[in-house]
Amino acid sequence: MESIKLKINDYLENYFRKEVSYNQHLYDAMAYSINLGGKRIRPILMLLTYSIYNDNYEKIMPIAAAIEMIHTYSLIHDDLPCMDDDDIRRGKPTNHKVFGESMAVLAGDALLNEAMNIMFDFCINNDKSSLRACRMISQAAGAEGMIGGQVVDILSEGKSISNEELLYMHNKKTGELIRAAVLAGAVIGGASKEEETLFDKFGEKLGLAFQIKDDILDITSSKEVLGKTVNSDINNNKTNFISMYGLEKCNELCENLTKECIDMLNKISEDTTDLKEITKFLLRREL
Ligand code: IPE
Ligand code: IPE
Ligand code: MG
Ligand code: MG
Ligand code: MG
Repeated sequence: MESIKLKINDYLENYFRKEVSYNQHLYDAMAYSINLGGKRIRPILMLLTYSIYNDNYEKIMPIAAAIEMIHTYSLIHDDLPCMDDDDIRRGKPTNHKVFGESMAVLAGDALLNEAMNIMFDFCINNDKSSLRACRMISQAAGAEGMIGGQVVDILSEGKSISNEELLYMHNKKTGELIRAAVLAGAVIGGASKEEETLFDKFGEKLGLAFQIKDDILDITSSKEVLGKTVNSDINNNKTNFISMYGLEKCNELCENLTKECIDMLNKISEDTTDLKEITKFLLRREL
C-alpha cells in the first residue's frame, strides 16, 4: 500500500509541474491542496482492485490520479466558509486560508475539469470498458452522487432528519466516490459481471463505513492526529451518525460493515488479500 501511495504522490507532483501563463496562481492553489498528501484511499482502492486482474497498475494511474483530483476539489469546497468553514486540512491551513476564497473556488473547479480531461484522454486511447468506468466516476461525483449528498448535508444543518435521509447523505457524499473507485478498477481490470456486482456492494459498504468512521473521528480524535478541525460537525450543528446513533452504536456499525465487506470479498474467487487488508486498516484508522 505504501509503495502504491508513493507512486500516486509522484504522479500528482509531476502533473502540476508545467509551464503555464497568467494562470500560474491557479496552478499553485491546485498543487497546494493535492500535494499536501492525504491518505490516497480512493486511488489506492482503484489500483488494488485493478491489480486483482492485471500486473501493471501504472496503466490506469491517470484515472487513479483523476479520482484523487475530484476528491481534493470536494475537500477544498467542503472547507469553504459557506460550507463547513474549516481552517485546517491535511495538517495545513485550508486552501482558502492561503489563497483566498475566490482562488479556492476556482482551484476546486479546475481540479474537477482536469480530472475530466484526464479521463477523456484515457478513453480516447483505450477500450470501451474505460469509458464505462469513467462514466461511473463522473456520475458518482455529480448531483446523483457526492454533490447530492453534500446538498443534504448542508440543508440539514441544525435540523433533525430521518434515518433514511442520513443514510442517503452518507452513501452519496462519501460512499459514491469510494464505490466508483473500486468499481472502476474492477471494470477496467476486466472483472466478470457477477464480480462487478460484488465489488459494487463491497464499495458501497466500505464507503458508508468510511464516513461513519469520519464522524467518529470528528469527536474522538485531535487536530494534531487528524490534520483537520475536530468537533467540526457539532460546531456546525450537523446531523451525522454520531448525533443520530451515539458513539458506541457507530463503532458497532463500522465493525459490522467491515465484516460484510470481507464476506463480499470472500465470494470473489481471485485473490483479494490486499483489499481485505485495506478494509481492516480503514476500520482501525486514526486519521
Ligand atoms: C475526508 O476524506 C472527507 C470524506 C469524504 C470523509 P479522507 O479521509 O479520505 O481525506 P484525505 O484524502 O485522507 O485527506
Ligand atoms: C465531506 O464530509 C464529504 C465530502 C464530499 C468532502 P465531511 O465534511 O465530514 O468531511 P471532513 O470531515 O470535513 O473531511
Ligand atoms: Mg462537510
Ligand atoms: Mg467538512
Ligand atoms: Mg467529517
